[in-house]
Amino acid sequence: MATRVLAPNTIGGGLPRIDGPLKVSGGATYASDHHLPGMLYAVPVCATIAKGKITSLDTSAAEKMPGIQSIFHRANIGRLYRTSPAQGIYGYLDERRPPFEDDTIRYYGQYVAVVVADTFEQAQAAAYAVKVTYSGEKPNVATHLKTDDEPKVESSRGKPEDAFKTAAVKVDETYWTPPETHNPIELHSIVAVWDGQAFTLYESTQGVVNQRIVMAQMLGVAPENVRVISRFLGSGFGGKLFVWPHSVMAAAAARSLNSPVKLVISRSMMFQNVGHRPRTQQRVRLGTTADGKLVSLQQDYLNHTSILDEYEETCGEATAYLYSTPNLKITSGVVHLNVGTPTAMRGPGAVPGLFAIESAMDELAVKLKMDPIELRLKNEPEKDESNGLPFSSRHLTECFKVGAEKFGWSQRTPEVGSMKKNGLILGWGTASCAWIGGRFAASATVDLKSDGTARVSCGTQDIGTGTYTILAQVLSEKTGIALDKIEVVLGDSSLPEGPISGGSLVTSSVIPAVSQAAQGAIQMIFMTATDGDQAAFAGRKPTDLAFTNQRVHLKDKAPETGFAWHEILQKANVNAASGSGRADEYFGGPEAKEKERYSVHSYGAQFAEVTWQPEIARLRVSRVVTVIDSGRIMNPKPARNQIEGAVVMGVGMALLEETKYEPRSGAPINNNLADYMVATNADTPSIDVTFLDYPDKVVNEFGARGVGEIGLAGIAAAITSAVYHATGVRVRSLPARIEDLIGHSEAGKLRA
Ligand code: MOS
Repeated sequence: MATRVLAPNTIGGGLPRIDGPLKVSGGATYASDHHLPGMLYAVPVCATIAKGKITSLDTSAAEKMPGIQSIFHRANIGRLYRTSPAQGIYGYLDERRPPFEDDTIRYYGQYVAVVVADTFEQAQAAAYAVKVTYSGEKPNVATHLKTDDEPKVESSRGKPEDAFKTAAVKVDETYWTPPETHNPIELHSIVAVWDGQAFTLYESTQGVVNQRIVMAQMLGVAPENVRVISRFLGSGFGGKLFVWPHSVMAAAAARSLNSPVKLVISRSMMFQNVGHRPRTQQRVRLGTTADGKLVSLQQDYLNHTSILDEYEETCGEATAYLYSTPNLKITSGVVHLNVGTPTAMRGPGAVPGLFAIESAMDELAVKLKMDPIELRLKNEPEKDESNGLPFSSRHLTECFKVGAEKFGWSQRTPEVGSMKKNGLILGWGTASCAWIGGRFAASATVDLKSDGTARVSCGTQDIGTGTYTILAQVLSEKTGIALDKIEVVLGDSSLPEGPISGGSLVTSSVIPAVSQAAQGAIQMIFMTATDGDQAAFAGRKPTDLAFTNQRVHLKDKAPETGFAWHEILQKANVNAASGSGRADEYFGGPEAKEKERYSVHSYGAQFAEVTWQPEIARLRVSRVVTVIDSGRIMNPKPARNQIEGAVVMGVGMALLEETKYEPRSGAPINNNLADYMVATNADTPSIDVTFLDYPDKVVNEFGARGVGEIGLAGIAAAITSAVYHATGVRVRSLPARIEDLIGHSEAGKLRA
């Protein structure tokens, strides 16, 4: 008799990632781990100018080199297509121009050819031997953004200009965030296979279903002839959400040569060809009464984008609902530069946006001589004032209270340079954070099998955040089946359509679909086991049931004898009881059905401590306390990892990260992990993460909104506010540099 283990309620427990052993043992296959017979290797040739035209492309020497199969460029790549407009959540890409579409170069590193050879080394060597000449012009990679276009109004209420004029206390400052490059350790990669009729694409992508739809369009085949597989990813941070040209090149080459083709982009291409967070420039105007009540909030932002594409970094995303103010206006604009197309990077919009807004709030607190937490609490709204909707679940005030307690905020003395510890000057700063909540549409299937195991499948993917684990937990919770008997299948576009791993929305989106699918499968077990009297068992799990011959009863009402649920399936000669589920998109706002209209967001409070040694100009982030209000936390272990990782990224954003374009060539010159600095272990402060864990039942039955991006929101402003507190220098242009601090430090002067 099979064992019947009553699974513990694992939701909210700290279950380790179920895919962890595969990852640490090397058993997890990433895209570039696929080695197929006859596989060829592709290496792109990248433009060495940022603006101009190709005048000649000579492949003759390269073609004669050993192992070369083909060199593709505009003249011989064959027909590639632009996509039709996106529908629903699918059909997205950032760089709309198919590779090699014309001879115009619009950014440094743009692909001009791709070499395919028997080995990677051969392809690499020949790529260097392709001779390309250009007529180049001086590119525009300006760091100060200007546009003559009419600004686009993103949100507005009241009369912000008038209210600002008459406000008792005002801040009017401009903030800059630099271009930042996603640097997942796993490079973008694809192994493309063409079988004469259909493609199988092993890709590192945050969205297998979207990838399939876009690739089919660009390659000119039916979507059913494309299958995208992405079982494991070494992260993406938004850079792998959508299709990039190298994938299209590799697939086209595979079709043309009738051989599998592998293409892994280089680290330097990561800085050129696969998106980045664009530079932002944001003017923020805040006006308050003498006692700190906001009367006007204006945010006017610009971001750069590429020549052909209109990527908008939505810096106002969190602004309109964050604070109470009767008068508000947010405007946006884009500036086209000779750079690759930007894309979403962890917390797109809100992350640079909250750097500006929360820095301005701190400047306001200084002017008001008011505690920065008190200023925020004073302006806490009762509803979302941008649309009049109630909040589904908002506990920002409690985030600050809990965080202040944990951080020891009451010990803070506000004067610059006034706090010291072990001979170091301390700076303490704080900031609010917020991020979107809601759901994408999602489908899933559940199979409860006659061997006592269960499977849940969804065409979403796990980018390292814990999706495999959380879906196993959900299915275990719904069915009572032990976790070690549950298989989770993700990362395949042939599975029921699932969402992109983006927006921190996978958990919230997929839960309702899995739940419904589980219900369907359970129902089928009841139908198999009972003669129609299912009502008696409504709401029960398969593991609650015991069967004696043809009679089914609840375990808690009868002795534990008889057969388990799966034995009934065996007796009935049924391999599996299956169910499928589908849940619609839901973002709660004015677009939702009337009764379902809520303002759905996650919140948090960030606290940062820096230490400052003016004698040697040494600044460190020593301590971070983060309190997150993100609904029910399905599994605090990966959830905490997400916030910790985001905080580390926030240290990088505040102090280190900046993609630098060389003004003459337009090349991103710090295009490697030595010159582009990300925060490392040595830069990492002690990080204390707390989740408030209030279920948001508007989003799904468990009340989980999801985490991932929110931890990066606000953190840079908390750090630079701490820098101000320690040094007296207000850093409005990230990253904060030593040269910003030396010579200007009031604290330094005080000591000198
Ligand atoms: Mo995230 S920037 O939605 O991958």
